[in-house]
Amino acid sequence: MSIHLIPSSRRRFLAGGVVALSGFAARRSVAQESASDPHLWALLADPHVAPESAFRGKERRIVERAKRLVPNLEAACRGVVALKSRPAGVLVNGDCVEFGTAEEYDLFLKSISGIVRAGVPVRLTPGNHDDRSRLLERASRAPGVEARSEAADRIVSVVPSARANWFLLDSQPGTLERSQIDWLAKALDAHADRPALVMVHHNINPSLEVGKRAKTILRSAAPYHQLSGGLTDTDEFLKVVLGRRHVKAVFTAHKHQLRIHRIDGVYFVFQPAVGFPFAEPDATGWLTLRLLEGGAALEMHAFDSRHAHAGVRLDLPWS
Ligand SMILES: [Fe+2]
Ligand SMILES: [Fe+2]
Repeated sequence: MSIHLIPSSRRRFLAGGVVALSGFAARRSVAQESASDPHLWALLADPHVAPESAFRGKERRIVERAKRLVPNLEAACRGVVALKSRPAGVLVNGDCVEFGTAEEYDLFLKSISGIVRAGVPVRLTPGNHDDRSRLLERASRAPGVEARSEAADRIVSVVPSARANWFLLDSQPGTLERSQIDWLAKALDAHADRPALVMVHHNINPSLEVGKRAKTILRSAAPYHQLSGGLTDTDEFLKVVLGRRHVKAVFTAHKHQLRIHRIDGVYFVFQPAVGFPFAEPDATGWLTLRLLEGGAALEMHAFDSRHAHAGVRLDLPWS
């Protein structure tokens, strides 16, 4: 494992790109002008989009936080569009909206429309704040946005790519259930020819015995959040994931805290939230993952360019 800090000139480029590209219609975007990179993915999580009016009467902290939800998602989208090369796709790992209303999904889709216009496909997984059927219904109306169901009544799909296959799961409201875990096992076995990356909204919450094997790869900025509230069937999920050598990484959201651990050779990437952190020292932002031969490079795009995690780049070798 190695950590690289991005040169300050690159950071300035990223920060400047966000400003320069405010207003998608004003000019052609960098992403539109550049070639698509089949190995580059943008990973967003927990935007919790809602209109400010939905929080009227709530405590001041919540009202203030609500003002940043849409601007943060729009900033993430501008950042994606400003990347040097166009990503193969954007994956939004749940809690797309706060209360699951149709109005919120329309606001969410409007906020990400710049990515879609730049020709980058967007795929969604549901979180506990999402309404599964409404998410499916609203996403089906939006060209370039996909929430696909390949099994049972959950939103699960395999997204193939040249250097790894993505397996997108549906943990809403906090469990996978046996049928989805069985589907995952079969899908992983049917795609064992290349590395597998699993994405699921809820964090793992393993038994002590498994947890003791976790090595820390990247520490969070704030003290670790407890893992309670995570997947209730974590150990059943981990039996499938840790038992297959081609599974290389699991991406989870829900904790709003960037941190990375490794268990038995599998990386567990806790994604930062786009919308807000649960504890202030944790940064808001999003990730890019560049797939390499034999590994991947992960980069943190924090909204606060002075944050300790801003521009952090991690090499994640598969072996
Ligand atoms: Fe969340
Ligand atoms: Fe969540």
